[in-house]
Amino acid sequence: MPEIAKSSIAGAAPEGASDRDSAARAVREMFTSIAPRYDLLNHVLSFNVDRLWWCRTARIFRHIVTRPGARVLDLCCGTGDMTFALRRQAERSAVLILGADFSHAMLRLARAKSAKSVRNGSAPGWIEADALNLPFPSEHFDLVTAAFGFRNLSDYDAGLREIVRLLRPGGECGILDFGEPKGAFGALYRIYFKKVLPRVGTWIAGVRGPYAYLPASVERFPQPEEMLARMQSAGFSEASWTPYTFGIAGLYRGRK
Ligand SMILES: C[S@@+](CC[C@H](N)C(=O)[O-])C[C@H]1O[C@@H](n2cnc3c(N)ncnc32)[C@H](O)[C@@H]1O
Repeated sequence: MPEIAKSSIAGAAPEGASDRDSAARAVREMFTSIAPRYDLLNHVLSFNVDRLWWCRTARIFRHIVTRPGARVLDLCCGTGDMTFALRRQAERSAVLILGADFSHAMLRLARAKSAKSVRNGSAPGWIEADALNLPFPSEHFDLVTAAFGFRNLSDYDAGLREIVRLLRPGGECGILDFGEPKGAFGALYRIYFKKVLPRVGTWIAGVRGPYAYLPASVERFPQPEEMLARMQSAGFSEASWTPYTFGIAGLYRGRK
């Protein structure tokens, strides 16, 4: 396992941000600015593969989301697609599923999508809150997930510690995020991710910045080995990583 420097904070650092608070503010403003086009951008830029990743992740946690009385929290839920995938996987089970995000604009869209995205069971609840400081008691949840949001936290270790705090003993966590595929496929993918995606993303979003930040944030994000070491030092007793689609994305799992 790699050594983790205790003194330095690892986390997202959008251009111009000088500390944890300004990084979080810049991230929130960035997502708020692209919220109206976020779903369209996601589906176009991922060729709709994002839907498979959310479903696959929700299926992995089926044993929890179908357990009557279970409590599930989807962090950095954005417009709610991971949250809805969990709700669909739960079918009619009486479980509590909440989505949390600190961008009000993203949550408004999530709430508006509830009616058409949930066929069985009750609609998820939506909470406006910072993933580093959540308004829930300790040991409250059976499952905490985050899809493509954890990478944007201004302090990864603080984010992991907050997830550990929220999970009841034996509870599980699933962090789905982008990775960096290796080999010849990785070389081709990097051309797309670093050259094509920022241009198309900026063009569709109509805002400069967020789609240049995306590849930079993936580059900054710890490699799987380091992330697993961080999970273990935060208090997860089991930690694993499963690559999705040749490692373009991947799921970190941990058990408290
Ligand atoms: C790339 S989007 C992912 C949305 C959704 N989970 C998905 O899979 O499409 C990242 C989301 O994380 C949210 N976010 C980033 N940092 C956050 C924080 N510290 N607390 C709460 N939400 C945060 C952003 O507002 C944004 O909506």
